[in-house]
Amino acid sequence: MKNIERIGVSLEKGLLCDFDKLIAEQGYQNRSEAIRDLIRRELSSEQLENPRANAIAAVCMVYDHHAAKLMQKVTDIQHTKLLQVICSTHIHLDAHDCMEIIVLKGKVGQINKTAKKILSQKGVKLGRISLISTQHA
Ligand code: NI
Repeated sequence: MKNIERIGVSLEKGLLCDFDKLIAEQGYQNRSEAIRDLIRRELSSEQLENPRANAIAAVCMVYDHHAAKLMQKVTDIQHTKLLQVICSTHIHLDAHDCMEIIVLKGKVGQINKTAKKILSQKGVKLGRISLISTQHA
């Protein structure tokens, strides 16, 4: 690893003990990796407030496949946002419901706009946007 700097951090014993327990539960092998991930997560979530930051998102939606013209509308939205749509996956859940996962890449603002347009379509029962800023990945 190049461009690595070593730093010393002063912490209260109790706080360090709790931190060590937490990262052990999470499966970390050492503090350095846990602290690097914490810093990345903090920087990444801060970037999600910036509409012009680069990001990638998984848009998950559960919908009734009998909903008239829903998938046609969602496909139309994807075709007009081709630069952002990376791929989509369809899963049949039961006799009525399906799940669609659409991966979008672009600027935070554009992704949120497109994702909200998709999830607000009539027939979508549940939806979630999982957004990750790639600025510090
Ligand atoms: Ni299906």
